[in-house]
Amino acid sequence: MDVFGLLGNPVGHSLSPPMHEAAYDELGFDARYVTFEPAPDDLGAAIEGARALGIAGLNVTIPFKQDALAHVEPDDLAARIGAVNTVDFSGEVPRGYNTDAVGAVRALEHHDVPLSGTAVVVGAGGAGRAVAFGLADEGMTVEIANRTASKADALAEEVSGATGHGLDALGDLLAGADVLVNCTSVGMDEDATPVPADALHGDLAVLDAVYSPIETRLLADAAAAGATTVDGAWMLLYQGVEAFERWTGEDAPVDAMNEALRAGLC
Ligand code: ATR
Repeated sequence: MDVFGLLGNPVGHSLSPPMHEAAYDELGFDARYVTFEPAPDDLGAAIEGARALGIAGLNVTIPFKQDALAHVEPDDLAARIGAVNTVDFSGEVPRGYNTDAVGAVRALEHHDVPLSGTAVVVGAGGAGRAVAFGLADEGMTVEIANRTASKADALAEEVSGATGHGLDALGDLLAGADVLVNCTSVGMDEDATPVPADALHGDLAVLDAVYSPIETRLLADAAAAGATTVDGAWMLLYQGVEAFERWTGEDAPVDAMNEALRAGLC
C-alpha cells in the first residue's frame, strides 16, 4: 500500500484526505492519505522520517511551507516562491514543489479564462507570492495590491514585470485588468471584501483564494457586476490534482476529487 500524508499544524479539518482518497478509490489504487502534526522543531526529522518509512509523498501546509524548503531540493518555481507544499520521495533526494501557484492557474484555465493581459493580485503573503509568480510565468502582467504597500513593492521586485501598490490603487488597476485574484484572508468566515464593489466589471475573471464560505462577498459582488467567478475550492482542488499527478504520474480523476472536496465543504 502507498501512503501519502499532510504535514501541518493544525490539520484536523483538512479536506485533503477525502479529496485524495476519492482519487485512489476512483482509480483503484491501494493507497491511503493521512495527516501528521509534527512539532515545529521536528519538521526536518519528520520529512527525513517519512522518506525512511517509504512514504510516497507529502503535502505541507501552514505553518511549515516556508521552512520545508530547507529540507528538500526545491524546483525553480518553489525556490522563487520560497515555499514548498508538495514533497516527492520517488528520487534519490526529496524533491519539493509548490502546487499552489499551478492550482490558481489551472483553476482559471478550467473556467476558460485566457491567461493573457493584466492580473491584479490582492495580497502579498504566502498565497499572494505563489499566485503572483504563477500568473507571471504564464505571461501575464501582474499588479500586486496589498494593505501594506511596502510588502507589495518588495514582492513585485522579485516577480518579472510586476508592480506593487496599496489597496487604494485598486479602482484604477481594475479598470484595465482581465483577472483579479484575492489572496488576502479578508472574507474568510465573514461578510467582508478587500475590493470595492464598484471597481468590478463584466470583463473581469475573479478568483477568490478564500473558500469558506464558497461564495464570498467578493464573488457575489463580482457575479453582480457580470464578471466570471471562480471560487476558492477550485484552487484548492487543482493544487491537490497537481500534487497527485506529480506523485503518481497519472492524470488525476478531477471530477471525483472535486465531488469529495465539495461534499466536505458543505
Ligand atoms: P497567506 O499565507 O494566506 O497569504 P499571510 O501570509 O498571513 O497569509 O498573508 C495575509 C495577507 O492578507 C496579507 O497580504 C495581508 O496584508 P498585510 O501584508 O498588509 O498584512 C492581508 N490581509 C490580512 N488581513 C487584512 C485586512 N483586514 N485587510 C486587508 N488585507 C489584509
